[in-house]
Amino acid sequence: MRADQSDVMKRVQLLIREKITVASFAQAPGERVIKTLKDAGILTMPTIGARRHAEKVQAWGVDAVIAQGQEGGGHTGQIPTSILIADVSAAVDIPVVGAGGFRDGRGLVAALALGGEGIAMGTRFLLTQDSQVPDHVKQVYLDTKANGTIVTKAVDGHPQRVIRTFLIDQLEKANPLTRFPRAALNALSLMKVTGTSLPELLEEGMAMKQNQELTWAQLAMAANAPMLTKASMVDGRVEAGILPTGQIAGVIEEIPTVAELLQRIIAEAEETLERLGA
Ligand SMILES: Cc1cc2nc3c(=O)[nH]c(=O)nc-3n(C[C@H](O)[C@H](O)[C@H](O)COP(=O)(O)O)c2cc1C
Repeated sequence: MRADQSDVMKRVQLLIREKITVASFAQAPGERVIKTLKDAGILTMPTIGARRHAEKVQAWGVDAVIAQGQEGGGHTGQIPTSILIADVSAAVDIPVVGAGGFRDGRGLVAALALGGEGIAMGTRFLLTQDSQVPDHVKQVYLDTKANGTIVTKAVDGHPQRVIRTFLIDQLEKANPLTRFPRAALNALSLMKVTGTSLPELLEEGMAMKQNQELTWAQLAMAANAPMLTKASMVDGRVEAGILPTGQIAGVIEEIPTVAELLQRIIAEAEETLERLGA
């Protein structure tokens, strides 16, 4: 879940109604969200990118944290995974799940060595046969080099790692004077691609404006970002231009099933532990 969604409490109620067991968040959600989920017996596991955020959410009573380093996909922080897992696991008592740049059993063992309890993967699971992302979109990820991604604030005001597409390049290049008209025009023309109405766009935008300091240019873009991401990733309209990814995409070359992937990771982790004499 994203913590800044205008309807986040409605989504929380849906999780409770459907008896979902674990809720995870792209950013630290408010204390009220955590409390409501906890009272309903749902485990909470926010993703954090800095030690102080881990300490803050631990004080709110979360059950675990996902410590995602800067190489990870989607919204991401500035601290590399190897530094972050060690720092966070020394600072909190709850389980720390490492994320950002993992794809195999060697990485799993490395995360355990750094003090983590396990790993979470995004990009690696996206590139499996079981993932419902259209095949031609998966191919764009397979073709991406390790230096073909960028962390940009141009999408919604928060640093987000994405594939460097034409849209992202245009937004990055725009100067502050032309950025707002460009972003506004983008948002309006892309409404057709995403099938979003103007009131929906405004509602999304105003919720985001309340939650963070955005310029009007960022706001225009940000309001449309979730729909653009959906158009790119779910509907397969890659021209919509927002393809969140981890840097690990640059070294992933095949599309296994999830079952094959997990068996492989377990075997690699055991081999690695044996090689290290553990
Ligand atoms: C396409 C994509 C969409 C993502 N969307 C979300 C999201 O909505 N909420 C969230 O908490 N994390 C999201 N993430 C982050 C992943 O949950 C995970 O933490 C991250 O991908 C780990 O880094 P990795 O890609 O190197 O494995 C997304 C990642 C990708 C690649």
